[in-house]
Amino acid sequence: MTRRRTSELGQKQGRASAFWGLNLALALALAGVPGVTALDNGLALTPTMGWLHWERFTCNVDCVEDPQNCISEQLFMQMAELMVSEGWKDAGYEYVCIDDCWLADERDENGRLVADPKRFPNGIHHLANFVHSKGLKLGIYQDVGNYTCAGYPGSFGYYDIDAKTFADWGVDLLKFDGCYANDFESLVEGYKYMSFALNQTGRSILYSCEWPLYSRPFQEPNYTEIRQYCNHWRNYDDIFDSWSSVKNILSWTASKQENLVPAAGPGGWNDPDMLVIGNFGLSWDQQVTQMALWAIMAAPLFMSNDLRHISPQSKALLQNKDVIAINQDPLGQQGYRLRKEDDFEVWERPLSDLAWAVAVLNHKELGGPRNYALSTNVLGKGLGCAPACNITQILPVKKELGLYEWLSQFKVRVNPTGTVLLKLQPFK
Ligand code: GAL
Repeated sequence: MTRRRTSELGQKQGRASAFWGLNLALALALAGVPGVTALDNGLALTPTMGWLHWERFTCNVDCVEDPQNCISEQLFMQMAELMVSEGWKDAGYEYVCIDDCWLADERDENGRLVADPKRFPNGIHHLANFVHSKGLKLGIYQDVGNYTCAGYPGSFGYYDIDAKTFADWGVDLLKFDGCYANDFESLVEGYKYMSFALNQTGRSILYSCEWPLYSRPFQEPNYTEIRQYCNHWRNYDDIFDSWSSVKNILSWTASKQENLVPAAGPGGWNDPDMLVIGNFGLSWDQQVTQMALWAIMAAPLFMSNDLRHISPQSKALLQNKDVIAINQDPLGQQGYRLRKEDDFEVWERPLSDLAWAVAVLNHKELGGPRNYALSTNVLGKGLGCAPACNITQILPVKKELGLYEWLSQFKVRVNPTGTVLLKLQPFK
């Protein structure tokens, strides 16, 4: 199999652009949303929900020493089974996703990708059938460059054949990483080309990109363009199982919110990376913060945890219907940081039916719970409670706070590194 030259890639991309131009015009006409263009594959109309192996299981390929935790078909089959039997699917988590390190070291004689035969003895098609039989969908991972980040064969030069292979196997989502691209141009063209190639297969395959993360060192990402090719896109560093990692993602997102927030909407989302709730690194309050803020940010909800060993408390938080409803709100507008003062942050997100979600985060890591007083007239662009609203506390526990008029004050009490998440509904 000879590798596709960059010039050929460019030529094909010309046709791809024309194709997308037509499709986008059609999508806009159908959606009736002026100014918002998104990948026209009908997917991710609300943020994607599922499970992804990376943060918790990384590149553990040692099935001899660690058979329960290595990247193998058994791991994904177990997770798929638990997603159904433990209520995850009913809560909305739908995609069971493989990350890096699933591949054999070489392609086959026809240039097709092969899963590691020891760890995936029945192959990906079989795994996809199993996952589908549970009413779930299967996600897979590849890379725009010559190798995946962990050094397995990448897709560069094989975009069409890989897209077709994934479609033949019955894959429903592709996470496309950005390591080992030859240069900036081939990174960008590769992300676009793969979007086209997936669409050409005729199978609905959700497309999860890391394009802006890898292109940012070269230039500020053009989100209008990225939205036309990807269903969600990673912007910032990989998440780790720690409070400092969650905090960095939040403060980076707030610092770029002017560019990020308008980019999100039905069909295309900013991806602040996986939920690490249920692992080792976050306290209870920090888990509440991650769940609340990922809902405010309209983030894809990919848990990376061990569903075989998870505390009832973390499970209840991840399955909390009211928070999930905020994350999945059909209006599809991403929230933003409204204020930062006295070690508190206030975030808000507009919801459908003129409702608002509001999160108050206490950053002070000294002392106990602290009160924060808010006036209703600052919320919801000043009108969230005009002339009055009902306020419900959603997290950390659900509580009706009652009716508040415009210009009235209310207080929340927030634990260190924790968050109080509220929903404001107009009084009718
Ligand atoms: C990183 C990516 C991670 C994970 C990893 C796999 O670049 O951001 O989410 O996919 O590669 O090697």
